[in-house]
Amino acid sequence: MNVGIDKIGFFTPNYYVDMVELAKARNEDPNKYLIGIGQTEQAVIPPTQDTVTMAANAASQIINDANRKKISLIIFGTETGVDNSKSGAIYLQNLLKLKREARAFEIKQACYGATAGIQMAKDFVKAHPEQQALVIGSDIARYGVATPGEVTQGGGAIAMTIANDPDIMELSSDSSVYSDDIMDFWRPLNKTEAVVDGHYSNDIYQDFFYKTIHNYLDNHDMTLAEFKALVFHLPYTKMGLKGLRKVLPEVSETKQTELLKEFEASRVYSKRVGNLYTGSLYLSLLSLLDNSSDLKANDKVGIFSYGSGAQGEFFVGTLKENFKNGERKLRIKQLLDERTKLSVSEYENMFNQWTNLDPDNFTGDVIDNSEFTFNGIVDEKRQYSTKKLTNS
Ligand code: HMG
Repeated sequence: MNVGIDKIGFFTPNYYVDMVELAKARNEDPNKYLIGIGQTEQAVIPPTQDTVTMAANAASQIINDANRKKISLIIFGTETGVDNSKSGAIYLQNLLKLKREARAFEIKQACYGATAGIQMAKDFVKAHPEQQALVIGSDIARYGVATPGEVTQGGGAIAMTIANDPDIMELSSDSSVYSDDIMDFWRPLNKTEAVVDGHYSNDIYQDFFYKTIHNYLDNHDMTLAEFKALVFHLPYTKMGLKGLRKVLPEVSETKQTELLKEFEASRVYSKRVGNLYTGSLYLSLLSLLDNSSDLKANDKVGIFSYGSGAQGEFFVGTLKENFKNGERKLRIKQLLDERTKLSVSEYENMFNQWTNLDPDNFTGDVIDNSEFTFNGIVDEKRQYSTKKLTNS
């Protein structure tokens, strides 16, 4: 059966900080951030957005009357949940007016959550081909002002529908997985910022990539040369390049050039947003689809998912005829180009404001024209508002 990704939506809030300005403020050479880390801009999350509103803003782009009736599974991947009990999926179901005859829940394993959701959704659709699943990756990556991880912060959401006979990509029925108890990155319950052993996390990521891609190739009697492109979880875009460079010697120089060219297309969006944790791999896939000039239907894309702690998975997507979408590309260009640039001190204020909300005036002078916004907490209940419901 031909099951995979039918539609992809992406949202990041309307504020960012420039990486050259941040490097100068931290007394670093800007090329460390631009080349050594591979980031040019970083999303800054205003207090009017959380993982629920970002997910709703991403998903509303891909929900229409036809698929709204079919979505009976909603999986919300996040490591920045808004409640210790109630799932983001239930809030989302209500905000998007999705049908109630659905299974809706949240799932967590660091940046791996959306991939776990996709794999479950794929099996669900195989068992119920007339139904669809909505899978979310929505997160806010926070390490702290003036920490080594600061340059790898970011945030946003990816929403994907998984369907039979999909428009974008058919997914391989099997994959190669690897997990182990590793303390490379985690966030204790009392903290709003991650604890990280940065260089160790880079090593584990590359190790898990090497293991899972080779398990997959060995089990399928395939070679790396059969892939048109590889897409990676991109906590910062140089990380994917480090992974790619580990396997490049296995192919000819011509193929190396081709894979490197496709990698550049896959990191256009992440360079401007930073880490979205669960959504990062799928932002990289979206960037490849929108920015590569050489891809065509039936090309194979190798997909590497990594979540600290740690879980790795490698699987394969085969492109379908309708994977390109000019309207989607234009919308993302507008979303990124029309953001407001913050100075470094304005970014620091917004970063700190996000965790110290004043219930009476927490928005300050934030301007947020997004379709879905967070409006504070009344009687310990989160309040959300909707400007309009698109595509309904
Ligand atoms: P750092 O120690 O500040 O940076 O931290 P560095 O000194 O290692 O330099 C970074 C790179 O810049 C190096 O290149 C330097 O050579 C280069 P590399 O050796 O890595 O190829 N460099 C320059 N290049 C050009 N011109 C210059 C220059 N100067 C230096 N002038 C680190 C970097 C990424 C460790 C830090 O930011 C961090 O801890 N980030 C958070 C952790 C992280 O993102 N880990 C990634 C793997 S784990 C993962 O992906 C999971 C995660 O998403 C969480 C989850 O699963 O939920 C994080």
